[in-house]
Amino acid sequence: MSDNAPILELQNVVKEFDGNRAVDGCSFQVMPGTITGLIGPNGAGKTTVFNLVSGNLSCTSGAIYFQGQRIDGLSPHQTARRGIVRTFQIPRELKRMTVLENLMLVPADQSGEKIWNSWFLPWRVQRQELQNQVRAQEILEFVNLSHLRDEYAGNLSTGQKKLLEMGQTLMAEPKLVLLDEPGAGVNPTLLNELVASIRTATKERGITFLLIEHDMNLVMGLCDPIVVMINGKNVAQGSPEQVRNDPMVIEAYLGGTAASPRPESR
Ligand SMILES: Nc1ncnc2c1ncn2[C@@H]1O[C@H](COP(=O)(O)OP(=O)(O)OP(=O)(O)O)[C@@H](O)[C@H]1O
Ligand SMILES: [Mg+2]
Repeated sequence: MSDNAPILELQNVVKEFDGNRAVDGCSFQVMPGTITGLIGPNGAGKTTVFNLVSGNLSCTSGAIYFQGQRIDGLSPHQTARRGIVRTFQIPRELKRMTVLENLMLVPADQSGEKIWNSWFLPWRVQRQELQNQVRAQEILEFVNLSHLRDEYAGNLSTGQKKLLEMGQTLMAEPKLVLLDEPGAGVNPTLLNELVASIRTATKERGITFLLIEHDMNLVMGLCDPIVVMINGKNVAQGSPEQVRNDPMVIEAYLGGTAASPRPESR
């Protein structure tokens, strides 16, 4: 597949809940290797789009393609197998397990899960666990949580939980990561670490990110391109500069509350 082909494409996607259209003919593409932003006011349909892409919800109509293949209708398990990993608006860490254990839980297909392997191939289970642990340690360093490896996940701050979630995401060796409001409730220092780990994951591991975020400074500084959704529809797409200057976006979304100066006031 060429680099010019989108990794993800939504074609006229519709999702109705009891006759109300949460997503109303949404079409956009995500190119591989990008950190693409998805913005829009509350209730615009952003999280629903994530649920449709990940298979947590099924489309009412329209089509979703991942690496050229249709994925709407697949289960979350099946989309994860293809390399799509999502995070949730509210982190879902396992509180009574340590940070390291939370990471080691992630990889699917561990031999240890299959009971007969531990009977007949114990060496294989041990070797895989060891490899898994080495990888988890590496990722802990990557997301700057090594110092908390033996802490219960339930004791972490919101920002640290988001870093842990990023670590879990990377453990799954994804191709496309869907991040739902990674910045929410995270203090500026940890936010910088989170941003750095997203950038590095893209640069060094070639991971593509699609990221929902209300923090305009974060989005404008990190994402390119940015897709704007209003009332279930994609209404604009472009560089941060283009989106910031799009009259429709200014009027309908950024309004007087934009984090960055409006064009006429510069
Ligand atoms: N499971 C559901 N059942 C019924 N309605 C839903 C469901 N999920 C979302 N909706 C509705 O769909 C619309 C879009 O919601 P969605 O959560 O996708 O918005 P959002 O853009 O993520 O908003 P926010 O920025 O506040 O997170 C809203 O009107 C919401 O109430
Ligand atoms: Mg949402």
